Amino acid sequence: AAPQPTPQYRPAYHFSPAAHWMNDPNGMVYYKGTYHLFFQYYPDAMVWGPMHWGHATSTDLVSWKEQPIALYPDKLGWIFSGSAVIDVNNTAGFGKDAMVAIFTHHSSEEEKKGQSKHEYQSLAYSLDEGKNWKKYEGNPVLPNPGIADFRDPKVSWYEAGKKWVMTLATKDRITFYSSPNLKSWTKESEFGEKLGAHGGVWECPDLFPLTLNGKTHWVLIVNLNPGGPNGGSGTQYFVGSFDGKTFTPSSTDTKWADYGPDNYAGVTFANTGPRRIFMGWMSNWNYANQVPTAPWRNATTVARELALQQVGSQLYLVSQPVKETTKLFSSATTLKDLAVNKELDLTAKLKSVGDKFQLKISAKQLASFSVVLSNAKGEEVVIGFDKPTNRYFIDRTKSGQTGFSDKFAGRHTAPRLATTPQADLTLLVDATSVEVFADQGLTVMSELFFPTEPISTLRVYSGTGFQIQELTYAPLAPKAQ
Ligand code: FRU
Repeated sequence: AAPQPTPQYRPAYHFSPAAHWMNDPNGMVYYKGTYHLFFQYYPDAMVWGPMHWGHATSTDLVSWKEQPIALYPDKLGWIFSGSAVIDVNNTAGFGKDAMVAIFTHHSSEEEKKGQSKHEYQSLAYSLDEGKNWKKYEGNPVLPNPGIADFRDPKVSWYEAGKKWVMTLATKDRITFYSSPNLKSWTKESEFGEKLGAHGGVWECPDLFPLTLNGKTHWVLIVNLNPGGPNGGSGTQYFVGSFDGKTFTPSSTDTKWADYGPDNYAGVTFANTGPRRIFMGWMSNWNYANQVPTAPWRNATTVARELALQQVGSQLYLVSQPVKETTKLFSSATTLKDLAVNKELDLTAKLKSVGDKFQLKISAKQLASFSVVLSNAKGEEVVIGFDKPTNRYFIDRTKSGQTGFSDKFAGRHTAPRLATTPQADLTLLVDATSVEVFADQGLTVMSELFFPTEPISTLRVYSGTGFQIQELTYAPLAPKAQ
C-alpha cells in the first residue's frame, strides 16, 4: 500500500519534488535572471533507482517551481550527478550561450557484469534555457580509464588559461582535467589520496576561487560518504591555490562545510558572477531511503552564500543563508537583554510559535545554553552550545519519529571555531529541518527531524546562566507558506 501522504512535513522554502525520490542537486546554473536547479531524480518510486535529472527554477533562490524532467536514462546508462555551464564563447559548437550539462553516465548493466569501467562523462545541451535537451552524439566525452568510482564532473571556465577545468571524483582522490571545447579532455593532475577524510568514497567535488582581503584563494569541496563528521555523508573542503593544472592546499587540516548530518553533495551555482552560492541535499545516505515523508523523499538545503574568513593561521569557509531568505520572514519580534536562569519560556513572550521560522540570538558573552523546539507531545529538538567542550550541538534523540533507521536518533556536535567572546546564531526552521549558522556561518549544522505534531513551543535553557543580548523571532510570512 502507498504510504499516507505527509503534507505536514512538506518544507515551504526548501525545494522538494512534488512526488518521488530526489538526491543530489545537479547542474546548478544562473542564466537570464533564472536560477536552474537540476537534481538526481527517480520518477517511479520514493526510493533511489534509475537516475534522471529533474529540474526546478527560481528567480530568488527561495521559491522553486518544478519543471519537466530534463534528462532521461539512455543506452549509455543512468544520468548521475554533474554540472552545467553557459558556453558563452560557443567553444563546443552547440550554439552561442548553449546551456551545457556535463554529467556521469552510469551503466548499471556494465556494473552488474563486474565491469569496472561503468562510469564515464557525457554532455547534453539546451538552446532554450533548459527546457529541451539533446544528448551529444559523441558521448561519452571522457571514457573510463579503469576506475569503478569515476564521477560527478564539476566544470568551470578557467579564465587565466582560457580553458574549461573539470574537477572529478575518482574514488579516493580528485582528478583534474582540462578542455578547450568540453568535448576533448586532458588529464592535468590528481589530488588528495593521502589528505583529508577518507572514511568512504569521494563524490561530488567543486573547485572555485574566493577572494579575501584582495587575495584570491581556491576552495576545493569534496563530498564524502560515509565518513562525515557526525556519521554517514559529509562535506569536507580544502583551501589552497590552483594554477590551471594542480591544486595545492595551504593547510592539511580536515575542514567541514557543515557538521550536521543532513547536508550532502552540495556544490555551487555556475554563472553567478562574484557571488558564490552553495546548495546541498538535505539528507544522509544513512537513512535517505527511509525518511517518513510521502509522496516524496528529500529536499535541498537553503541556498548559502560562501566566503572565506581567517581565524588564527587558518582559512575557513563561512556560509550564510543567501540574503534573499530574509524576505521570507515577516512580523519579527525582537526581545532585548534576556536573562536565562534555568528556563525561559519564549512561547508566552512571542504570542505564538509555528514550525517555520527564523530565530536569531546574539550574546556578548557566550555560555552554555540550549534552545528547545517542542510540541504538545513533548517531542523536542535541542540546539545549543556546551562551554566545557566548546562545541555546538543538536540533539534529536526525542524528536518524534526516529525508529525508521537506527542511525537517525542522536546528539550531534560541532566545534566552535570562532575565538571571540561574543556570539550569534541564526536558526532556520522549516517543518522538518533546522539549519544553524553560528558565528556568522563559521560553524554550520543542518539537521532533519520528524515530530508527530508540528513544533509549537520554544524555550531557552541554561544551567549556568546565560545573558541574551538580542533575540529575534520571525515567522514565515503568510505569502511564503
Ligand atoms: C552522491 C552520489 C553521486 C552519484 C549520485 C547517484 O550522493 O552517490 O556520487 O553521482 O549520488 O545518484
